[in-house]
Amino acid sequence: MKTLLNEPAVSPSGGSGEVLAIRGGHPLRGRIEVKGAKNLVTKAMVAALLGETPSTLRDVPELSDVAVVRSLLEVHGVTVRDGDEPGSLVLDPSGAASAHFEEIDAHAGASRIPILFCGPLLHLLGEALIPDLGGCRIGDRPINFHMDALRAFGAIVDKSYEGIRITAPDGLHGANIELPYPSVGATEQVLLTAVKAKGVTELKNAAIEPEIMDLIAVLQKMGAIISYEPNRVILIEGVDELRGYDHRSIFDRNEAVSWACAALATDGEIFVAGARQQEMLTFLNVFRKAGGWFDVQEDGILFRRGGQIKPVVVETDVHPGYMTDWQQPLIVALTQAEGESTVHETVYENRLGFTQALVKMGADIVVHPQGLEGVARRVPRRALEQAAVINGPTPLHGAEIEVPDLRGGFSYVVAALAAQGESRVSGVGIISRGYEKFFEKLDILGADFDVVG
Ligand code: EPU
Repeated sequence: MKTLLNEPAVSPSGGSGEVLAIRGGHPLRGRIEVKGAKNLVTKAMVAALLGETPSTLRDVPELSDVAVVRSLLEVHGVTVRDGDEPGSLVLDPSGAASAHFEEIDAHAGASRIPILFCGPLLHLLGEALIPDLGGCRIGDRPINFHMDALRAFGAIVDKSYEGIRITAPDGLHGANIELPYPSVGATEQVLLTAVKAKGVTELKNAAIEPEIMDLIAVLQKMGAIISYEPNRVILIEGVDELRGYDHRSIFDRNEAVSWACAALATDGEIFVAGARQQEMLTFLNVFRKAGGWFDVQEDGILFRRGGQIKPVVVETDVHPGYMTDWQQPLIVALTQAEGESTVHETVYENRLGFTQALVKMGADIVVHPQGLEGVARRVPRRALEQAAVINGPTPLHGAEIEVPDLRGGFSYVVAALAAQGESRVSGVGIISRGYEKFFEKLDILGADFDVVG
């Protein structure tokens, strides 16, 4: 174990800017553990605002996104302290109050979670302020489903020079809402608002990711009445009062998938403690078709190669499809597959740009910005679709690369670990938004790297 890993600071402002020197060509081997899912924990922390009594959340990972939400809750008067076991947090909303705009604004740009404070704050205080994060991050379009849903509950949305001010002078009432797309965030927005709205809410075309189901479980523990009907319909009967919860988060599927792909790409063997088969069925099928081998055990899943990596055709989709968060680490492994793979990105318009750095490292990847016609498809084409065609196997060599985003950043580190020679990867602090103790885990798995800046 290295004596000084200089892990990026886990703070609301994150810790971008760190540089790793990575010497590749060594398989990653060993056992690491994944804790609670970033994409549930942060939402469950917001749900604590709805309770009359304190909530306890367990298996909370040390991530900068968690630090952002903790800090935002604290500026709203919620007391957050460590619980009775490592990784548990107690959130006490009894002192919740309006926050000054400057304090809220200080969190601008750090995370999308502030949008989810709307419903709970409207119930609590009759008003919510959302900082304008500017440009592409929080324009009208990316939160239009959220704002439309809030309006349907009776909220008034005002855009001011400060940002977005949402009020509900007459309270919030149940609504019939159909989402244009099964958005994860908009579904959470509806759930967190409808549970205390007067009357019944019917949500059609809802997202049904396992993290959403876990949020429903949290809300049900608090006293909410939520039923899940066939065909993406969720019914919520509003109640007057909710109490605190005690909940252990679902494991982080995205992290588990990332390490599985790291084992495949580096020809290593990684046991991911805490990973569960049920929530990973779709990924495990693709992993197997791509030449991966796995063994589901009581306390986790063991991942390695089962022979030569094989090409696959993958389309990202909402659950139960192949998640968009899983395509980036898989593409690194597919650069070593024997033949041509195709990855269609159907959820986000710009999640294949990260492949440019892989090309710099020797990969043969062509991105088709308008998608590909004529390929047999399971998922209908979306207007914003892109496709990447990956031809392999191509040896990867070290390069200087800069992390573009969370999953892309993880993938670059894995590419550098799979490559021959030394790479310099800058901006790795972004990775601490979604991967707990990342450097420590790399070290446990035998990665040869130094923190150089
Ligand atoms: N969209 C709109 N308008 C909206 C909301 C969404 O057009 O008001 C579009 C988005 O632009 C996107 C699609 O709908 O094209 C899906 O977005 P969704 O709302 O489902 O995503 P999200 O809630 O913002 C969460 C995760 C993402 C994950 C997606 C998809 C969190 C904090 N983030 O984002 O996770 O990729 O769902 O599953 O839960 C990550 O962890 O690295 C990450 C990006």
